[in-house]
Parts: sequence; C-alpha cells; structure tokens
Amino acid sequence: MNIRHLDLLVCPVSLGPLRVARVDQTGTNSSYIISGVLTCESCGSEYPIVEGIPRFVSSENYASGFGLEWTKHARTQYDSYSGISASEDRFYGQTHWARDLRGQHILEVGSGSGRFTEHAALTGATVVSLDYSCAVEANYKSNGHRENVLIVHADIFAMPFAKDFFDKVFCFGVLQHTPDPKSAFMMLPQFLKSNGLLCADIYKATLRRTLFNTKHYIRPFTRKVNPEKLYTAVVKYIDFMWPLASLIRKIPKGHGINWQLLIADYSSLGLSGKILKEWAYLDTFDMLAPKYDMHVREKTFKSWVKESFLVDIETELTGHGVVARARKP
Ligand SMILES: C[S@@+](CC[C@H](N)C(=O)[O-])C[C@H]1O[C@@H](n2cnc3c(N)ncnc32)[C@H](O)[C@@H]1O
Ligand SMILES: [Zn+2]
Repeated sequence: MNIRHLDLLVCPVSLGPLRVARVDQTGTNSSYIISGVLTCESCGSEYPIVEGIPRFVSSENYASGFGLEWTKHARTQYDSYSGISASEDRFYGQTHWARDLRGQHILEVGSGSGRFTEHAALTGATVVSLDYSCAVEANYKSNGHRENVLIVHADIFAMPFAKDFFDKVFCFGVLQHTPDPKSAFMMLPQFLKSNGLLCADIYKATLRRTLFNTKHYIRPFTRKVNPEKLYTAVVKYIDFMWPLASLIRKIPKGHGINWQLLIADYSSLGLSGKILKEWAYLDTFDMLAPKYDMHVREKTFKSWVKESFLVDIETELTGHGVVARARKP
C-alpha cells in the first residue's frame, strides 16, 4: 500500500486513526509498504500489511471459494483480456457516472479480481477497493500499481473507513453472496458523504431465475464440496460437455439450454473459442460454489434502499439482476 493512502483507513473496531507501527519491506518506491503492521491509536489493535495489502480479516472464511475462483481467473473477465467491453459497459451502464471523476473518492465493495476497479480507476478518482477473500491479491496484481488505487482485505460488515466520506460507492455481484444481504446493503450508504451516489446490484428473483433454474437444485450439494475439488470437477464437466454445448448453442435460444445444463454460456456476449470456455469454467464454478446465493425481487430491493433513507431512487432489471441507484441526502 502507498503510505499516502493511510488517511483513507480507520480501525474497524474503534473507528480511530491508524498509524504505521512497523515496516518490514518496501517496494522499489519506498513509499509503498509491501509488509509491515498498522496499529490503531485508540484501541491498540494491530493489522498486518501482507503482499502490499492491509489485512483486516483472515482469508479463512465463507468466501474462500471466491478467492480460488479469482486466483485461477485473475484476468478472465478483464476487457483487455477478453476483447469485449462487458466490464466497462456494466460499470457505466449500471452506475450512470461520468467518465472523469478526478478529485473524487470511490469505494468499491467486493472487487473480486478487480475488473471494475480498473474502470473506476480510469475515471481519475481515488479508488478504495475491498474484498473479503484472497481475490484482493489478484486485484493487487492488476491494479495495485495504480497511484490512485488502494486495495484492502476486509469485510463488508466491518469496513475500515470513515463514515460520510466517499463521493461514490458501488457494489456489484456481492450482496447475494453474503449471509445477510439486507444488512450488507445497509452498510453501504453509511460511507457516502452528503449528495454521494450509490450503485448496487443483487440477483433478481424471477421464476426463471429461481424455480426454473437448475443451479438451485444442485448448489445445496456442491456448496459443501471443498472448492479445489469442486473446481476440478467443474473443469472436467465442462470439458466433457463442450462438444454437445457447442452444438446446442447453434439452435435458437440454445445458450439458455446450456445454462440449464449448468454450462455458463456467454456466447451471447460475442465470446468464442478459448475465452468462451474460460468464462464457462469460471461462472459454472461461480454458480455452484457460493455458500450464500440469494435472489430478491425488485420491489424488495427497492424497499431496502428506501429504508436506508437514500433519495432519488431508481431500480431496474438487467441481465445481471436488480440494479439500484440512489443519492444520500
Ligand atoms: C461474484 S464475486 C463479484 C466480484 C466482482 N464485483 C465482479 O463482479 O467481478 C463476489 C465477491 O464478493 C466478495 N464477498 C463476499 N462476501 C463478502 C463480504 N462479507 N465482504 C466483502 N466482500 C465479500 C467475494 O469474496 C467475491 O469476491
Ligand atoms: Zn482500534
């Protein structure tokens, strides 16, 4: 972490300021701490910096499957790797934010490999990006070198930031995978300053996405399997099914049939060949591994946003779920 970013962090226990207690290793640029210790001036709690990332949680938690997923697929969904603009389109399509946000502070909650961190950083804003799993390490490899990015290993339920601080907060693909999505959502507005903008999404509950969705009948079993073993099984399954999936894809709405066969088929995005298959490994695992996976109705999600006292609320259904945009009064 860049020492310049220390002011962006507080102790998640006391909310007091942190200071650098020890530096064990710096980068070639000495203002980057690779390993060391932060300590809270109020309560004395200590937080290690490991591999350049300040750590407020350990990696052993319910999100470790995500850590594995984003380590194996650290670049798969980056636009610069896939050759399509899916991440950029989703970032701007959902947030409706301007492309130049220099001088602002953005908080990203649940970054995964950091495919959206990249686009948030390109706005010129200072971006603080956290995740609960060791996906932070994948994000650090891709975005840690950026002067305007701070990557943090932390929990949405105990975020180490000052309240009422950020101009913008976004949280994509995360809430449904927490043990209590509504409480997780309620954490987000606290970190926005007055007039700050929030954008968050969650899986939508429609008949097609719930009752008629094969994953819900299989996941109760697969979510209990060790992530490494499950990933190996997913790769074998996709490899075995791929010739059939390639034929099914050719018939009208064929990619929908593939999804029901538990083959995450993103051919509709224009992907093909090796990259299409990589996305299939990644997202089939992503369907089957999460410990928590909740779908909510648009009106339910909207009611949470209203309860959080945000204003100018908009919700919409997209291919990814229900998206909400709102402003803190
Ligand atoms: C499906 S991934 C989405 C990642 C990224 N936003 C994307 O769309 O590519 C969900 C992410 O939420 C993170 N997550 C789950 N529970 C969390 C929590 N309590 N606090 C912070 N992140 C959490 C997981 O570690 C995982 O990286
Ligand atoms: Zn403290």
